[in-house]
Amino acid sequence: MSDYAVEITDLQKTYKATKSSPEKKALHNVNLNIEKGSIFGLLGPNGAGKSTIINIMAGLTVKSSGSVKIWDIDIDQNPRNARSAIGVVPQEITFDPFFTPAQVLDIQAGLYGVPKQERRTMELLKMIRLEDKANAWARSLSGGMRRRLMVAKAMVHTPPVLVLDEPTAGVDIELRRELWDNVKRLNKRGMTILLTTHYLEEAQELCDQIAIINHGEVIACEDKEAILARIDNKEIHFRMTEPFKTIPEQLKTYAPERSGRRTLIFRYSPKDLEMDTLMSAIHDAGLRIADISTDESDLEDVFLQLTRRDDEAA
Ligand SMILES: Nc1ncnc2c1ncn2[C@@H]1O[C@H](COP(=O)(O)OP(=O)(O)O)[C@@H](O)[C@H]1O
Ligand SMILES: [Mg+2]
Repeated sequence: MSDYAVEITDLQKTYKATKSSPEKKALHNVNLNIEKGSIFGLLGPNGAGKSTIINIMAGLTVKSSGSVKIWDIDIDQNPRNARSAIGVVPQEITFDPFFTPAQVLDIQAGLYGVPKQERRTMELLKMIRLEDKANAWARSLSGGMRRRLMVAKAMVHTPPVLVLDEPTAGVDIELRRELWDNVKRLNKRGMTILLTTHYLEEAQELCDQIAIINHGEVIACEDKEAILARIDNKEIHFRMTEPFKTIPEQLKTYAPERSGRRTLIFRYSPKDLEMDTLMSAIHDAGLRIADISTDESDLEDVFLQLTRRDDEAA
């Protein structure tokens, strides 16, 4: 057995052209390995390709090329078993309002061929704290209860991997907290969790590992700590008195970026480099500083920085 709950290799997806829209290349060459037992966040703006990845994993969308393994099971070689290894909570809440929560779970278990004596309807309802609503009309449930019911529904066949597509999009703060607590609790019990989000805060709060995806490409995939370490980075802009043509040799070790004809941008971690050292180096390089401005970066900046670089390359 591999250490990975999910292995995605060279995944590509092109949606075919229709009468009303041209062909759309949604995934370029996606590689992702998701460790067993982790909470993995797939972070990216709308249209990045997050749902496409999830839908391919769930067997709802047909990939163009590449391979996907879930719990060591290849989705092409053994689609049935692969499908039973994941539970997917889709972006949209959909269920028939005329069923009760107990019925919703029972019907879903039936669809997955879970034998009656192995069904965990009450256990799941307890887990999502809906046991006293077991026989209430689903339409009488609050928004939060409905979302919890969707999570339970994805778990009727006891999959080792739970996938949540934008679990808190358009949800108020309180409900978001509640869903986060639920996700953490499930993970503590041993579930591997993959979630997509376009909220940086959500990825930061929940995930051990974060992949950033934009325009169908993974542009970063790191431990949360590594991403957070970047936040610790400072950005400082030096505008010089005179324009300069190239970055002076003495400054290259600091890997500055040129901006316009007169400005150098340095990114550094205050614990690794003192401002004094940097200013001396600039002085030694024969440049004279006209103006200094600093910028404390946060996750939003890291995200923008990464996605902007990707936009430029595209
Ligand atoms: N069924 C489809 N047919 C054609 N294009 C699609 C379809 N589904 C998604 N797309 C396009 O593929 C891209 C990725 O979409 P999606 O995976 O839904 O992104 P995300 O979930 O990150 O918002 C978008 O440009 C979207 O318009
Ligand atoms: Mg989506």
